[in-house]
Amino acid sequence: MKTDQTPRAHLAEIEKKGLLRKLQEFPQAGARLTIGGRLYLNFSSNDYLGLAVHPHVIAASVSAARKYGAGAAASRLMTGSLPCHTQLEKRMAALKNYDDALLLGNGYMANAAIVTTAIGRGDYVLADRLSHASLLDAAILSRARILRFRHNDYEHLDTILKKIPPSRRRLVLTESVFSMDGDLAPLKEIAAVTSEHGALLLVDEAHATGVFGPRGAGLVTELQLEEYVHFSMATLGKALGSYGACITCTHDWKQLFVNQARQFIYSTAPPPSAAAAAVAALDLIASGRASGGELLANAAYFRDRLKEKGFHTGNSSSHIIPVLIGDNLAAMNISRKLFEQAIIAVAVRPPTVPAGTARLRFSLSLLHSRDELSHTVDVLEKVADQEKGKLLRD
Ligand SMILES: Cc1ncc(COP(=O)(O)O)c(C=O)c1O
Repeated sequence: MKTDQTPRAHLAEIEKKGLLRKLQEFPQAGARLTIGGRLYLNFSSNDYLGLAVHPHVIAASVSAARKYGAGAAASRLMTGSLPCHTQLEKRMAALKNYDDALLLGNGYMANAAIVTTAIGRGDYVLADRLSHASLLDAAILSRARILRFRHNDYEHLDTILKKIPPSRRRLVLTESVFSMDGDLAPLKEIAAVTSEHGALLLVDEAHATGVFGPRGAGLVTELQLEEYVHFSMATLGKALGSYGACITCTHDWKQLFVNQARQFIYSTAPPPSAAAAAVAALDLIASGRASGGELLANAAYFRDRLKEKGFHTGNSSSHIIPVLIGDNLAAMNISRKLFEQAIIAVAVRPPTVPAGTARLRFSLSLLHSRDELSHTVDVLEKVADQEKGKLLRD
């Protein structure tokens, strides 16, 4: 915003670029919504396993609210540390095969807590170019110098690390499943390069937790990289259908976060209902009643059908599937027309994604049947044909 600009003039400028965002209210959460008596398939929710609306998860959260209170009523270091918080931390540490875990308000805060505690002024952050905004904001907050390596390019990471004096602390940031592209990081290679240089590694498992790995443990655990990944961050607000986030790490790092991370110290403990809901979600995943494997198989089916129709899905190999459009307004138009056909796929535009890569981001859920996925591709094809010429097609 320019110094002499009013908020309204700034908004008009944003709108002119096709980048205005508006809040839209939906009647409930999740992957299937009834709006005005009509069923909508929602591909813009992160309720990957349908657990936000699962009766067991809801029952667990109601029962925790009755037992402990609607809110925790204090920060963890005052009187807000409750048995449901500790139980969740133990479960997450065991699931991810780490010594310990620390619960924070959400993933945005958890990333900030890790980065600002692990490094500071004079140190270096090395972030994948497509890292989530919460990782980049965390890096800015740390006051360390920020260097970005090309997306998923561990050789570029190596080149940059070689130039930094080893006397400085260096923290590498990546996601295991990228939120806007649905592609996977080459974690083994990144871990090898990071470890060779004696740097720290944070892997954001926001979109992998619950879906990838044994009992939804994520990709770090699946690839047995716990020793090399100092911090793994899992949000509870996506596949686990709740709210909050856990950092899994060693006991010592946890104690340092408890003592130093302002995002932990100066914030009310997460509500008991959210912690209990996440534990119930972990139970359902462990029992096989919510299967990430099944979701990934459905995603492969959906991706194949999209490709058959000539759509660009980038390098997606997860349940997050972008349909690349390119032009901001074309993406908005297609999204609007899909909505008229009871399909919700919100257009994602810059600055969330790089300029010229506006897209529809499809996040699949176990609550979408294969027939519904097939129907969605057919509708998308018809709608996209009306935007011919403005669309990236194979
Ligand atoms: C990769 C990634 N990291 C962190 C977050 C933030 O997590 P939360 O929604 O729990 O704040 C998100 C959510 O948008 C995300 O996609």
